[in-house]
Amino acid sequence: MNRKLSKLHFTLIVMLLGIVVGCSSSKGPQSDDVADADGSQSVPVIGFVQTGAESDWRKAHSESVRDAAKASGYDLRFADGQGKQENQIKALSSFVAQGVDGIILSPLVETGWDNVLEKAKKRDIPVLILDRQVDVKDDSLYVTYIGADTYNEGRLAAEWLIEETGGTAKVVELQGTPGASPTINRFKGFRDVIADHSGIEIIATQSGDFRRSKGKEVMEAMLKKHGDDIDVVYAHNDDMAIGAIQAIEDAGKKPGDDIILVSIDGVRGAFEAMVEGKLNCTVECNPLQGPMAFEAMDKILAGDTADIPKKQMIKDEVYDRDTAKDVIDSRKY
Ligand code: AHR
Repeated sequence: MNRKLSKLHFTLIVMLLGIVVGCSSSKGPQSDDVADADGSQSVPVIGFVQTGAESDWRKAHSESVRDAAKASGYDLRFADGQGKQENQIKALSSFVAQGVDGIILSPLVETGWDNVLEKAKKRDIPVLILDRQVDVKDDSLYVTYIGADTYNEGRLAAEWLIEETGGTAKVVELQGTPGASPTINRFKGFRDVIADHSGIEIIATQSGDFRRSKGKEVMEAMLKKHGDDIDVVYAHNDDMAIGAIQAIEDAGKKPGDDIILVSIDGVRGAFEAMVEGKLNCTVECNPLQGPMAFEAMDKILAGDTADIPKKQMIKDEVYDRDTAKDVIDSRKY
């Protein structure tokens, strides 16, 4: 009886294991899902080349990619570019030499990727471009791009500003990293909208490299030079806007009232600043891109690329001081 029972238990356990293994492999990655020489199951390796850790947005982005890799059953190798393209190129080349199963690249700047992406292509290693865009001669060098519509973010910031000011304001602009796609697009999107509103004038523009400390430093210099002329700060990201808020307060002015601030990202610090009345508006740029990236990677490694679009854009929302307090508790980053 006992032996019969334990045999039944054994059979049930084997059946259950079969179901569990079946479920995880049908959901998870397909490539290289083969047993190693020692009989263990190998997990696909993905090399992730990140720009750095320049902003709160970037930290949320890295965390989202790490969490999604884990949830989808990948072995993620993380390379921090520390704000330098040369570091990113080295890391990418090294992932190619290691023969990883796939690469995710968040490029610091748009250009200069052709050679290293060709190396990946020659080794048949698929590359997914995440967050920022690349400008390459041959777009077959990557499978797909997933990220926000940063041109539209610049447009939305300008539209909000025109509505808020009635179309008359002297603006100083804090740009992101030179040559980065969100910098190029947010610069252009904003200008394309204000082109029809001659009362909106950009009186100074300079890079703050998407960093809080640099945003503060540049704003201090702008305040010294343009003083009371400044009506508005348009910052390409929230971190620089938060740095500018500090500079404005240090100069004895009231951010949000004496000077209007509009920025992009929608990080927690921006919502806190809006609730305090110091930031007027932020255009969301969602950094939680990991799940979309690994959903696409599952398909890529399964060879199922026919229905993957070349560009997948994430939708943005606009938040201002009036709406901030209602949504701050539901924010995920
Ligand atoms: O590429 C997205 C931008 O990079 C975010 O707006 C910014 O905060 C980040 O560092």
